[in-house]
Amino acid sequence: TPKNKHYVIGVSQCSEDIWRDKLNDELSISSFSNENVDIRFASADDNDQRQIEQINHFIDEGVDLLIASPNQMHTISSAIDRAYAKGIPVILFDRKTDSRNYTAFIGADNYVIGKVMGEYVGVSLKGKGNVLEITGLESSSPAVERHRGFCDALNSFPSIKLIGSLHGDWTKESGSYLMDSLLKKRKDIDCVFGQNDRMAMGARMAARKLGFDKNIIYIGVDGLPTSDGGLHNVASHELSASYIYPTRGDLVMQLAMNILKKKPFKKDNYLKSTIVTPENAHAMLMQVDEINHQRARLIELHGKVDQYFAQYNHQQIYLFLSVVI
Ligand code: FRU
Repeated sequence: TPKNKHYVIGVSQCSEDIWRDKLNDELSISSFSNENVDIRFASADDNDQRQIEQINHFIDEGVDLLIASPNQMHTISSAIDRAYAKGIPVILFDRKTDSRNYTAFIGADNYVIGKVMGEYVGVSLKGKGNVLEITGLESSSPAVERHRGFCDALNSFPSIKLIGSLHGDWTKESGSYLMDSLLKKRKDIDCVFGQNDRMAMGARMAARKLGFDKNIIYIGVDGLPTSDGGLHNVASHELSASYIYPTRGDLVMQLAMNILKKKPFKKDNYLKSTIVTPENAHAMLMQVDEINHQRARLIELHGKVDQYFAQYNHQQIYLFLSVVI
C-alpha cells in the first residue's frame, strides 16, 4: 500500500445517546493523529431496518473499513455478512452478532459485568431479599450476557430471589414504565438492577413519583462522567453502584489502523473495567476532570495547526500569483 493512502471508515451506531456521543467524540479525536483518515458516522436510532440500510450504504460507498455496533444479535447479520463477503474489514464493538463473519471485536465482557453486579447485590442485601432486573433491548448481546452473569452470581445466594427480569430497551422511559407497572402489583422489592444507568434512574424516578419511599437499592451500568451520567448518580447516592462500560474510542481507532495497515491485531479484544461505588466515584470524577482538560487542550492545538496550514496555503497561493502576474 502507498505510504499516504487515504482511508474512509464508516461507523454504524445502533443508538443515539450519551454513551455513543462519547465514543464518537473519542474516535474523532483519535483521527487527529491519522490525518489520512476520514470517519463517517451513521446512527440507526434503535431501528434494525435503518441500521441495515446505513451499513449497505457504507458498503456501496466503498468504505475501507466498517465499525459497527449491531442493534440486535440476529437482525443486522445479513448486512454485516455482505460487507465481510466483499472483503471490507468489519470491527464489531460493544455489541455482537450471531455470525463468525467479523474481522475483530472490541468491547467489555458483559457476562463479567452482570456477574460483578450480581455479587454486589448479594453482599449489599446481606444474602437476602427480592431483586428486580430491568434488561436492555431483548436480543442485543449485552442484554443477554449481562443477564446470564447476573443470574450466575445470584445462584450463590439462595435467599435472594429474582422476582422478575423485565425487558426494557436501554431507555430511561422503559425503566420508568416497567417499574411503575410492577409497583402497582407488588411492593416487596429490595433492589433494582437496571442493565444500564438510564433504566435504573428511570425506575428510581417512577418509584418516587408513586411516593414509594422504601429503601430500595438501585444499581446500573455505564458509569458515564457527564453531568447526568452514572458516575455522578453514584457520587450523589442516587444509585448505589454502577460499572464503567468503557468506550475507548482510541483503542477502537488503533485496532482499525492496525487492520488497515496490515499490522498484527487480536481478533477478540476485551476491555478491562471496574465497578463504581460511592467510595471510589469521587476519585474517578477527579480523574475525568483532568482528562477533560487535556482533551480540550488537544482540540485547541488541533484547531491552531489547522489554522496555520490554512494561512500557509493562502500565502503560498498569494506568492504563486504574485510571481505569475
Ligand atoms: C448505549 C447503551 C448503553 C449500554 C450499551 C449496551 O447505547 O444503551 O447504555 O450499556 O448501549 O450495548
